[in-house]
Amino acid sequence: MNQLELIRALPKAELHVHIEGTFEPELMFAIAQRNNIEIPYKSVAEVKQAYNFQNLQSFLDIYYAGAKVLIHEQDFYDLTWAYLEKCHEDHVVHTEIFFDPQTHTDRGIAFKTVLDGILRACQDAKEKLSISSHLIMCFLRHLSEEEAFKTLEQALPYKDQIIGIGLDSSEVGNPPAKFERVFAKAREAGFLIVAHAGEEGPAEYVWQALDLLKVNRIDHGVSSEQDPVLMQRLAKERMPLTVCPLSNLKLCVVDDMQQHNIKRLLEQGLCVTVNSDDPSYFGGYMNDNFVAIYNALNLSADDLKKLAINSFEASFIDEKEKKKWIDQINAL
Ligand code: HPA
Ligand code: ZN
Repeated sequence: MNQLELIRALPKAELHVHIEGTFEPELMFAIAQRNNIEIPYKSVAEVKQAYNFQNLQSFLDIYYAGAKVLIHEQDFYDLTWAYLEKCHEDHVVHTEIFFDPQTHTDRGIAFKTVLDGILRACQDAKEKLSISSHLIMCFLRHLSEEEAFKTLEQALPYKDQIIGIGLDSSEVGNPPAKFERVFAKAREAGFLIVAHAGEEGPAEYVWQALDLLKVNRIDHGVSSEQDPVLMQRLAKERMPLTVCPLSNLKLCVVDDMQQHNIKRLLEQGLCVTVNSDDPSYFGGYMNDNFVAIYNALNLSADDLKKLAINSFEASFIDEKEKKKWIDQINAL
């Protein structure tokens, strides 16, 4: 088996994907039409042309605009189901999906509508595609602490359906410290914790995510390389980083893929994983991300297997399930 065949054959877990970032233009047009909502594009080609980003914020502006056509439970179902079919194609057997309730509740959509649609698709994927999933609710960090507290309140009745709480949106100027108290409350309620840190922000934000939010994983975290002491800590604790190569390229976190540090992070003993982030906006799903780093960084078969093993090690599934998938990878 060559490396490209190995990438396809590996069972993989996805740990960093925003469901609103899987919204393909074709589906966006279809849902906009049935909901009678105008979108500022004439064609799918025109939409794709708009996906030329200079930084995180220029992407977020378009990402939040796209999400506005999602109104009904069925819309959230269709969005999620389309993503889960992509998982099936890429042999992603487990996924931990982020959703941003504030993007929807701020437009008057009920929290329950969002969650019910996503959950129903996840249940169907378990039955029909044998894909397991967890949900992680994210706070939008450009909004206030008070609004995060309100969102946490809304999630409490769904404690059994939501495994963790995360932090996303505009990073620079909105450090983890801003949300220390609301994450303490989330931990007390029994949620696992993740946070975007060290994507555009500095290594200092990764320290804050570890020490103030007490995260179980860091999302992105690529700027940790600026700080050797932090690198040692991440390696020693096997603190997972959910790295998103095509995202980093599209948002100009790296100038070209050959400069991406994922291989160096792996070689320094960090538990790095590969993820798609917002695949409809960044040019590819899980296997596209693997192929992009394989081509740019000349990864070996052992590197590719290690990345897939890390994805299960870093996941929130139970130890028995982890072992089952890791044994399968080692047998390839
Ligand atoms: N970073 C921060 N917020 C986000 C991202 C991201 O890559 N994608 C969707 N929301
Ligand atoms: Zn992200």
